[in-house]
Amino acid sequence: MEYKNIDVKKEEGIATITISRPKALNALNTETLEELENVLEVLQNDDGVKVIVITGAGEKAFVAGADISEMKDMSVFEAKKFAELGQKVFRKIELMKKPVIAAVNGYALGGGCELALACDIRIASRNAKFGQPEVGLGIIPGFGGTQRLPRIVGVSKAKELIYTGDMIDAEEALRIGLISKVVEQDKLLEEAYGIAKKIMSKGLVAVSLAKEAINKSLEVDIDSGMEYEANAFALCFGTQDQKEGMAAFLEKRAPKFEGR
Ligand code: CAA
Repeated sequence: MEYKNIDVKKEEGIATITISRPKALNALNTETLEELENVLEVLQNDDGVKVIVITGAGEKAFVAGADISEMKDMSVFEAKKFAELGQKVFRKIELMKKPVIAAVNGYALGGGCELALACDIRIASRNAKFGQPEVGLGIIPGFGGTQRLPRIVGVSKAKELIYTGDMIDAEEALRIGLISKVVEQDKLLEEAYGIAKKIMSKGLVAVSLAKEAINKSLEVDIDSGMEYEANAFALCFGTQDQKEGMAAFLEKRAPKFEGR
């Protein structure tokens, strides 16, 4: 597929997806969502890619939301289809076997905030702004915001943000646990790649199983979650990485993981 609205770069096991629709502050229209869906599938199946970083083009916006010009005249059924497409693409990020890091470089509003919420780790530049301004447009978040924001920042804060449509800065986003780090804009990708490389130095099958187990914790009761964890823990003992990791520890040397 030829991409018009995203750029994809692969380097040293890290794939960077840059959402690039500068005229609309990288807003997500149907075409961009379809491109994202396609590239995620490609990267999922690319054994050379271990970690994915998602960012926005330019210094102003990560993603300023779903595309308002496209949504303006949607019928009820078209709106449902649009929400389902966004939800499907973001769920794909959540279910990917590989870690996905959001490097939020500016406005992350509406669908942009929801895109970041679907990623495993979120870091942001000092100028980043987060918000779910949908009620100000007479709609509600439609790409997972009502489901993921309360799980991440708690129900009360999520309701405040969604009901008021308030925008918060990166420091406030850090304070409420929406992101895990704030850095200067010119250091943002460097920081994201640093995190990616640290993850890549570990047993990647274990990282992938940890992702699945943590995701489960948000979906099932505690006993089912514990059972899931015990099974995933046990699965690790069928990997080369477990043998290497533990042998290296006992031999007092650095492990050489192969991701299998
Ligand atoms: N959709 C379409 N176009 C958008 C857009 C969006 N979400 N956000 C910005 N743009 C366009 C603007 O229309 C403008 O285009 P023109 O130059 O052709 O007029 C261009 O990007 C630059 O934007 P501004 O002139 O508005 O830039 P600014 O610096 O004055 O303001 C901003 C920046 C505060 C981010 C402002 O653009 C803004 O409020 N954008 C909309 C944010 C928003 O409401 N997002 C939620 C969308 S709904 C949603 O996402 C639903 C969902 O959950 C699925």
